[in-house]
Amino acid sequence: MSEAKLVFIGGGNMATSLIGGLIEKGYPADRIVVCDPLAESGKRLEAAFGITTHTENNTAATAADIIILAVKPQVMKTVASGLAPALAHKPLVISIAAGITAAALQSWLGAEVPIIRCMPNTPALVQSGASGLFATALVNPTQRQQAGDILAAVGTVSWLDSEDDVDKVTALSGSGPAYFFLVIEAMTEAGVKLGLDAETARQLTLQTALGAARMAIASDVDAGELRKRVTSPAGTTEKAINSLLDNQLPEHFEQAIAAAYDRAQEMAKELTD
Ligand SMILES: NC(=O)c1ccc[n+]([C@@H]2O[C@H](COP(=O)([O-])OP(=O)(O)OC[C@H]3O[C@@H](n4cnc5c(N)ncnc54)[C@H](OP(=O)(O)O)[C@@H]3O)[C@@H](O)[C@H]2O)c1
Repeated sequence: MSEAKLVFIGGGNMATSLIGGLIEKGYPADRIVVCDPLAESGKRLEAAFGITTHTENNTAATAADIIILAVKPQVMKTVASGLAPALAHKPLVISIAAGITAAALQSWLGAEVPIIRCMPNTPALVQSGASGLFATALVNPTQRQQAGDILAAVGTVSWLDSEDDVDKVTALSGSGPAYFFLVIEAMTEAGVKLGLDAETARQLTLQTALGAARMAIASDVDAGELRKRVTSPAGTTEKAINSLLDNQLPEHFEQAIAAAYDRAQEMAKELTD
């Protein structure tokens, strides 16, 4: 991994996860700076990771090789417009904000600044995230590699050919952890209804989710084939799977993820028009 000077704008949950992952991977703490208006956030990050923090953005930004915009989408216009005077050296800017288009960022930050849009997800907090990245034409191959390495510190990285795919990633994996939490809730509840105690049902459900994901990741066949292999004719699994299919579970997921995609596109319009 390169040791580019990283400046995070915003020191909240996502920035903390990324910094935690980078430090764990051996990234030098003296190459990481966080800017957050709340001095307390800075103190917490300094104590946890030994990095440097500032309450003002532009002094740090002028010395950055890579700037990571990790503020809420609602404040992005103000933050990005304020940063513009500090970007004459054209550092790479990576935005992890949902719904803020590259064109909007370009207009706020100034022309010629290379921009990468990234959609991570919350399991980045436990270094098991999934990120989709889209690079604008001004991003060079070295910067692309650097951005990929930064996000790979907290999980997997998928490069996207079209910016519209960022909204698809938002709908699938950005919002996706909540879909799995719902499945976990529902399975745990079903176990309790059968008469298991809540803690036993919770532990069995969670370990089953983890085990199934690990098996699917390690396997050279797809999830559908794995499912067929564990579904014996006339057995218990077949009964449950048929019930889920009769109740159109795949169609429900298709509709839910399409609805999330529509909302991501709507939000992009609301935030950048
Ligand atoms: N969390 C997720 O699952 C997730 C997933 C994908 C993408 N994202 C994106 O990641 C971004 C950050 O999300 P988050 O969950 O980390 O939010 P967060 O915890 O609220 O962090 C944002 C931080 O930015 C700070 N901030 C506000 N105004 C600032 C300014 N002018 N200059 C510098 N820092 C400023 C906030 O300080 P105050 O608290 O004092 O306002 C806060 O510490 C969002 O755009 C979100 O869309 C998040």
